[in-house]
Amino acid sequence: MNIPRPRGTRDLLHETLRAFLRIENAASSVFERFGYQPIRIPIFERAELFIRSVGEETDIVSKEMYTFQDRGGRDLTLRPEGTAGTARAAIENGLLSRGEARKFYYTGPMFRYERPQAGRYREFWQTGIESFGSNDPLIDAETILCAQLFLDELNIAPVRIRLNSVGSGERHTYADALKQHLQPNFENLGPQDKARFENNALRLLDSKDPNTKRMLENAPSILDFLSDESRAHLDAVQNALDAAGVKYQLDPSIVRGLDYYTGTVFEISVDSLGAQDVVVGGGRYNGLIEQLGGKPTPGIGFAAGIDRLALAMSAQDSLEETSPLIQVWIVAIGEEAKPRAFALLNEIRRAGMRADMDYQGRGVRSQLRTADRLNAHYAVILGEDELARGEATLKKMSDGTQESAPLDETAARLRQSVPTNT
Ligand code: HAM
Repeated sequence: MNIPRPRGTRDLLHETLRAFLRIENAASSVFERFGYQPIRIPIFERAELFIRSVGEETDIVSKEMYTFQDRGGRDLTLRPEGTAGTARAAIENGLLSRGEARKFYYTGPMFRYERPQAGRYREFWQTGIESFGSNDPLIDAETILCAQLFLDELNIAPVRIRLNSVGSGERHTYADALKQHLQPNFENLGPQDKARFENNALRLLDSKDPNTKRMLENAPSILDFLSDESRAHLDAVQNALDAAGVKYQLDPSIVRGLDYYTGTVFEISVDSLGAQDVVVGGGRYNGLIEQLGGKPTPGIGFAAGIDRLALAMSAQDSLEETSPLIQVWIVAIGEEAKPRAFALLNEIRRAGMRADMDYQGRGVRSQLRTADRLNAHYAVILGEDELARGEATLKKMSDGTQESAPLDETAARLRQSVPTNT
């Protein structure tokens, strides 16, 4: 009986997994250049953490969380995102106490009970940054620059950066204005948009329903509701982005699906991805730390969807030529040669190369075929004759040429010939 994997989960294999690993490496390399340090937080947290931070009325909390009771009767949730857990960890471990700005980055799986489709999964991966302690608009701009450099590093282009501000308290007034605008046409809204109207009117701006979109054409813009302070902050972010030469669009329809945002919000999308095209989402959350019981501390960050970045890389063919799994394949002929071949194999590994040999008793021809299939640079052949001479035969797989080398110099000879960066 086959037991298939749960809906919305994936087995990460081959090129997809290689793309994931490249993305994770690029993330740590770029994020550390911006002064972020790694953090790992639990994959499950108390349900209350997300209810209080992401917000009870959001799609994530109201219908997408994997919440369960453990054997001790506690309500636990598989984390749907990383900001809440990082903020909790920062408070709980006293990382914010010295009043310095602190920067953390994380990578790992997140869980949301969404309808699976290309680019949308129930278990998906994010890598993200969170910066606590500064409300300087330059940090907002830096956060966007960090995301941009990260995408550049992966050759993901062109991307579209959309920027907005949801203000701090202003979005409630704005939500009321939006509702007032739509009220006369309430009956024409679809069932999902009716629910949004009642529970979280800002989410109407994300509606895919053409009817709702038309009704929203002349709707008020959140930018007209911003306080002077929020407006000045947004202006300063824009000035810094302009000075750094970042191309972005101001888009008042970006409101994000999580309740903790205050002020700056942004999303980055890649056109080639189709419906699920947003690869980075983030923004400022100046109330979150206090809401979770810490001292009032401003914060800002973003998370990138690794699954979607990997899709973008394969769509754009920006996955570079992959290096061979095995660089050197050892072929031992006859039982007598085996122990020496085994010793040589390990010398080659100690010299820093990826090497392997056959442990299934296959014939020489079939072993050479394996070397070929694995794209090995060299097959090293060790039979009775070679053993008697104290030599090995080095066969270069690309052109079939062969040379002999003394056994105790073979590893060093290979080290010189096998390209180090492959
Ligand atoms: P988010 O917009 O919910 O924000 O998620 C960020 C990114 O995760 C999305 O842009 C998308 O690329 C990816 N993502 C989300 N859901 C899925 C899914 N079901 N399948 C595949 N990829 C998905 C947050 O999570 C915030 N914590 C971001 C943040 C950090 N804001 C401030 N700091």
